[in-house]
Amino acid sequence: MEGQREGRALAGRTLITGGAGFIGSRLAARLLAERQPVILLDNFSDYYDPARKRANIADLRSEFPDRPPLVVEADVRDRAALSQLFVAEEIRRVAHLAGMAAVRYSVERAPLYAEVNTLGSVNVLECARQHEVENFILASTSSVYGNAAPPFREDQIPDRPLAPYPASKRAAELMAHTTHVLFGLNVTIARLFNVYGPAGRPDMMPLKVLDWLHEGRVIPMYDGGALRRDWTYIDDTVEALFRALQQPLGYEILNLGFGATRSFAEFVAIYEELTGIVARKEHLPAPPSEPDTLWSDPTKARRLLGWQPKTDLRTGLQATWDWYRGAVLSR
Ligand SMILES: NC(=O)c1ccc[n+]([C@@H]2O[C@H](COP(=O)([O-])OP(=O)(O)OC[C@H]3O[C@@H](n4cnc5c(N)ncnc54)[C@H](O)[C@@H]3O)[C@@H](O)[C@H]2O)c1
Repeated sequence: MEGQREGRALAGRTLITGGAGFIGSRLAARLLAERQPVILLDNFSDYYDPARKRANIADLRSEFPDRPPLVVEADVRDRAALSQLFVAEEIRRVAHLAGMAAVRYSVERAPLYAEVNTLGSVNVLECARQHEVENFILASTSSVYGNAAPPFREDQIPDRPLAPYPASKRAAELMAHTTHVLFGLNVTIARLFNVYGPAGRPDMMPLKVLDWLHEGRVIPMYDGGALRRDWTYIDDTVEALFRALQQPLGYEILNLGFGATRSFAEFVAIYEELTGIVARKEHLPAPPSEPDTLWSDPTKARRLLGWQPKTDLRTGLQATWDWYRGAVLSR
């Protein structure tokens, strides 16, 4: 497939796959603010409304009118399109964020997750090593740890994933390792922990709970709201990814989580307080795909990247709520 392109050509760019998505577009903004040129590759998947992704691109163009990103509409499953892109453009670094996220959605869709997250990653890794890029960041997930003993450290062996999503990401991590060993590609595996914030993913709890509160809908409380997650604010995640991109490390796995957990019950209670709306709750057993606790030990990322996440959950949810009031409720 011939990728569709917009924007002007610049040399030595960073390729962000999934660059129209939540994290990819904010990482692009960070790089553009540092005057580092970017190429954004995305297939504008309809897993959630592609209009949000088009809006992310439009925001970048209005934020950086003098240096707009090159946008390539293509699919990471399309090896020919990737190959053409790497031949046509000088790509120095890759942040590979394109992927199908969402644990529960993956349960009935194992082939799709294997094709996009595993094979798609292999396709991008192959181009990167053939074109000798300096550094490759692979977005992986905290859910690879499954029900391992928290807080998670990178030296725990995550070989008991609970759903196709983490299994497909773990497989990509392993293929990245072989690419490093055989071809010397610098790879940093970024295990992301529940990233949230303004203009976040509409399928994730930080925006879904706000929708449910406003629509007066019942909120499912798995295991009575006892599941614990390590919520990480978008600006903190982007800062870590930005630092990782500038710093080839050989092959390293880094936990990029805030480093503390809150139960879902506590999470909902913060939103009740911020919005002044009392939640209607339904208690349900947690599905077997959901780990009890996802909790990062971020010591290694602090040591290797000098990264220190700053935004606690209450502050981050306040910012998310402020954005939601302006962007969603005022529509
Ligand atoms: N948000 C989180 O909490 C979180 C946690 C762990 C891992 N991650 C990973 O980080 C990455 C970015 O996540 P996000 O929250 O920004 O999600 P997102 O869905 O907003 O972004 C992913 C982007 O990838 C694109 N994409 C999907 N399939 C593609 C394909 N076949 N070819 C090209 N592009 C494709 C989508 O259109 C989307 O714009 C994903 O790989 C995700 O698995 C995210």
